[in-house]
Amino acid sequence: MSTQEAPNQHVGPDYKPTSERPEATVSKSLSLDNVHILPQTSQLIACLTMIRDKSTNRADFIFYSNRINRLLVEEALNHLPVLPHNITTAVGRPYAGVKFEGRICGVSIMRAGEAMEQALRECCRSVRIGKILIQRDEETSNPTLFYDKLPADIKDRWVILLDPMLATGGSALMAIDVLLSKGVPEEHILFINLIASPEGAAKFAKKFPKIRIVTAFVDEGLNEKNYIVPGLGDFGDRFYTL
Ligand code: PRP
Ligand code: URA
Repeated sequence: MSTQEAPNQHVGPDYKPTSERPEATVSKSLSLDNVHILPQTSQLIACLTMIRDKSTNRADFIFYSNRINRLLVEEALNHLPVLPHNITTAVGRPYAGVKFEGRICGVSIMRAGEAMEQALRECCRSVRIGKILIQRDEETSNPTLFYDKLPADIKDRWVILLDPMLATGGSALMAIDVLLSKGVPEEHILFINLIASPEGAAKFAKKFPKIRIVTAFVDEGLNEKNYIVPGLGDFGDRFYTL
């Protein structure tokens, strides 16, 4: 498996002729089977543009990141099993459908991961949510685990791990170690993430090939302070305090 540059792509609905489609920077593609990048639609790129913009205020940052989080959760749920479900429609006709199997829980990496909880709750009513408090050291970028509080039966659930930023990968890998130590099988974990660095995504995906990552965008890389570039800055600060 190897990372590779995405070809210069256009963004926008397919019905537009090529000459009328907007030019925009889209995600790098990664040749990693367990990394799923959202389709680079014009709406997704417009929302990402808003949250990347340093002049976007906090209310808009929350609004547009919530829109992307909703897309990420919907896509992540598509990776979970469904059961056959036969129903009768309102005009009396049979319909062979499916239903969601259930038994999931969200786990947010505090603090920024908590910003993704609303989207999960909107899609999965009364979902259980566990917390892992991991903080990255501002100087060294090394993560420290402070706290975890998880549902007692977590090993019997599908776990949707939430963190919008995957930079060096240190925090996410530490969170996975916590989940594995509670008996959650690797293949029952989905990691949803808003922006990943190529190196962070590759490190994570290679260490845990059975864990699926659903991300909206793979950026260029990391700067000297291990911030994602072009990135959006400190997600937690922009969502909660700035
Ligand atoms: C951010 C982010 C990730 C981590 C990513 O959290 O939300 O958890 O950094 O960096 P890494 O991949 O190099 O580990 P941070 O520790 O800054 O805390 P916050 O959520 O309170 O902003
Ligand atoms: N955490 C953030 O919030 N942003 C980055 O770019 C890296 C880590």
